[in-house]
Amino acid sequence: MNKNFYITTPIYYPSAKPHMGHAYSSIIADFFARFKKIDGFNVYFLTGTDEHGLKIQRAAEKKKIKTLEFCNEISLTFKDLSKTLNLSNTDFIRTTENRHKKSVQHLWSELEKNDEIYLSKYSGWYSVSDEAFYGEDEIEVIDGKKIAISSKSAVEWVDEESYFFRLSKWQKPLLDFYQKNPNFIAPEARKNEVIKFVEGGLKDLSVSRKTFSWGIEVPNDKDHVIYVWLDALTNYISALNFPNINDHLFKNFWPASIHLIGKDILRFHAVYWPAFLLAAKVDLPKRVYGHGWILSGDEKMSKSKGNILDPLEIVDKYGLDPLRYYLIKEVSFGNDGNISQDRLEDCINSDLANNFGNLCQRVTAFATKNCDSKIPKKIKFEKDDLKILDNYKNNIDKIREKIDNQDINFYINFIVNSLFEANKYFNDQEPWKKKNDLIRLNTIVYTTLEIVRKISFLLYPIIPESSLKALKIFGITEDKINTISIIDNNFLLNIDKINKIDILFHKIEKNND
Ligand code: MSP
Repeated sequence: MNKNFYITTPIYYPSAKPHMGHAYSSIIADFFARFKKIDGFNVYFLTGTDEHGLKIQRAAEKKKIKTLEFCNEISLTFKDLSKTLNLSNTDFIRTTENRHKKSVQHLWSELEKNDEIYLSKYSGWYSVSDEAFYGEDEIEVIDGKKIAISSKSAVEWVDEESYFFRLSKWQKPLLDFYQKNPNFIAPEARKNEVIKFVEGGLKDLSVSRKTFSWGIEVPNDKDHVIYVWLDALTNYISALNFPNINDHLFKNFWPASIHLIGKDILRFHAVYWPAFLLAAKVDLPKRVYGHGWILSGDEKMSKSKGNILDPLEIVDKYGLDPLRYYLIKEVSFGNDGNISQDRLEDCINSDLANNFGNLCQRVTAFATKNCDSKIPKKIKFEKDDLKILDNYKNNIDKIREKIDNQDINFYINFIVNSLFEANKYFNDQEPWKKKNDLIRLNTIVYTTLEIVRKISFLLYPIIPESSLKALKIFGITEDKINTISIIDNNFLLNIDKINKIDILFHKIEKNND
């Protein structure tokens, strides 16, 4: 079995400061990356910034600073955000880097060599905000202004010489590919939208611009810069040192296991990107997943709408892990979701502080007092103990399968139920009443500790920092985490001491309590 896993986030436009929508894409990608890591995979996890195009050039002009300086500054805020969000990314790519430019120009030359590109003239609508071309039927007039129907962003008329990619000729091969690879686009409903779009016919795509210069030059034609999406999409392979296909990164990690993106940029990833790759004779990624939006009220959160929720403010106020937990649990993955501080506080109080934190504290305090701060070794499992312990062994294959289908909802529900069952087990077994039956007392303590270990392990992809704090009870550190097993019920027999830990989550005082 191939034990390499390559996951990517979209690369972010540094035209504005990062917001909750960006944080969401990154946290979800980190969740998958960390799960695969603890499941023994070699993980390559890529994120970065998309720095070319008219949108960025204009944003820099507005601030009256050099475009590259502007990019350096904001790209850094995205890099910092990756740290603040505790992303486990292995690389951070910027499209202004040389390694990327070389790769994009090579891809262009391949397309040219294969007669996939020709010079002509583009006359039509363009949205700078989306960096996308729109047909007459894709725009409408609102308040006297022309806007793209799908994104509601303003469009402007473009009339200039341009290179075109022969996208139209890839309609049938793309449809065949979708049919042969039914899991390429997810979720299912979005796949159907893409197929409908392609079935409707594809026009050749303008892939260069002549009237501005902030981009990667077309090889052998200095007057043109490469269309920002062709440039940006290539980041997924330039980070693996394409065109060096014998480079170990490219060899091990391409094709990508999954490109995780928001639903608004699915067309670029599920239509244009595979068409470019087919035309350049490069393998296609295995999956493109278009997640939903974080809404503010009923609208997508975005700079142009002025309804931004700043992830840094939330992290400052509540801490990172509560935010990660909340986004992963409460935004039903694949759908849009509203973010509410009230629900976030409920998550902290009930799931994190009560059900997880409290369980860790209770069992360690009890073991410290009654088992001399040691993992009890004289134990004898009974039916109730094995029933709850074996639940992990019995479900691990299902968990893996669900993760491979991006069913985060199953994963989080499994954890929530496990926490409920664990607390119930400890209460029902009443170890404090077993002081005359030490083997039974020991077995209950041991079993509860084993469950805490297993749940902490499963929580690692969601709340890595808190999970590691809990695993400190057993002296398990991050570098060892991928060597421990959740199916082994005897794991703790090899560990001696129980370490005391600080309170994991502090409850939030709610006004309406
Ligand atoms: N630069 C392009 C992506 C190029 S990938 C080769 C881009 N950048 S972006 O900064 O505008 O958006 C990046 C990602 O953030 C997209 O996947 C987008 O869907 C996501 N989000 C932006 N706003 C969002 C929400 N309000 N909610 C959830 N995700 C959203 O597009």
